[in-house]
Amino acid sequence: MTDETDNNAQRDTGAEAPITLTQAIRRSAIGLGIFAVFTAGIIAVTQTLTADRIDTNQREFEARSLYDLTPESLRDNDLLETAYPIDLPTLTDTALLRLNRDATWYQARKDGAVTAVILPFIAPEGYTEPIRLIAAIDASGTLLGVRVITHKETPGLGDQIETSKSDWIFSFDGQSFETIEPDQWQVKKDGGAFDQMTGATITPRAIVRAVARTLTFFETNRAVLLSTDPNTTGVDS
Ligand SMILES: Cc1cc2nc3c(=O)[nH]c(=O)nc-3n(C[C@H](O)[C@H](O)[C@H](O)COP(=O)(O)O)c2cc1C
Repeated sequence: MTDETDNNAQRDTGAEAPITLTQAIRRSAIGLGIFAVFTAGIIAVTQTLTADRIDTNQREFEARSLYDLTPESLRDNDLLETAYPIDLPTLTDTALLRLNRDATWYQARKDGAVTAVILPFIAPEGYTEPIRLIAAIDASGTLLGVRVITHKETPGLGDQIETSKSDWIFSFDGQSFETIEPDQWQVKKDGGAFDQMTGATITPRAIVRAVARTLTFFETNRAVLLSTDPNTTGVDS
């Protein structure tokens, strides 16, 4: 029987003609294409939702840390309402903070006076990637504390900078350029005053140096940071 006879026979009986190899390849390709587009869509949606969630979680964590760092005795205001952009024209030497995007700083106030500021900053030389932190500094230039906001340091090594993993980050509490000379803001391995961690010097070195730069930024901009009108005058009248 020839092909034509065969096809006629199938048409007569209503049976489907067998598909050719080219048709089979084309169908598989279309199927794969649809699957790929569908999968890519799901991944894109998931990524967007997760990124939003991470961003919200970070902001919530940062807000909690702000209150954590400023004792109630120093504030009677809502910290989130006395928030200012770091790129205020009245502030100088903001490069000391090594921030790579818009960031916000906050004032704690008591009885109308600024009692402390909370500054965001980055330690760019983290072991894995730049570490984002905040520091609370009172009006005298003394650190109330430092907290890590995000990092990707190695579990068991660099992650000792988290409050839940070790007390190391509390070593900044109560310190200033008065209690520790500016040239001593190094880890002990570099001749400074701060402990490194066992088997992890890079992470603490990066943070100690970044905190020192943040204190320098505070000293340089003290008048503006402690002004109740930092947007314009820079100094209370
Ligand atoms: C897989 C791996 C991960 C590491 N993670 C860190 C880290 O997160 N932070 C850190 O300070 N050191 C980390 N280290 C150790 C550093 O490479 C380095 O040995 C240590 O910080 C001491 O540095 P120093 O020799 O300059 O004092 C890691 C090492 C390895 C092999």
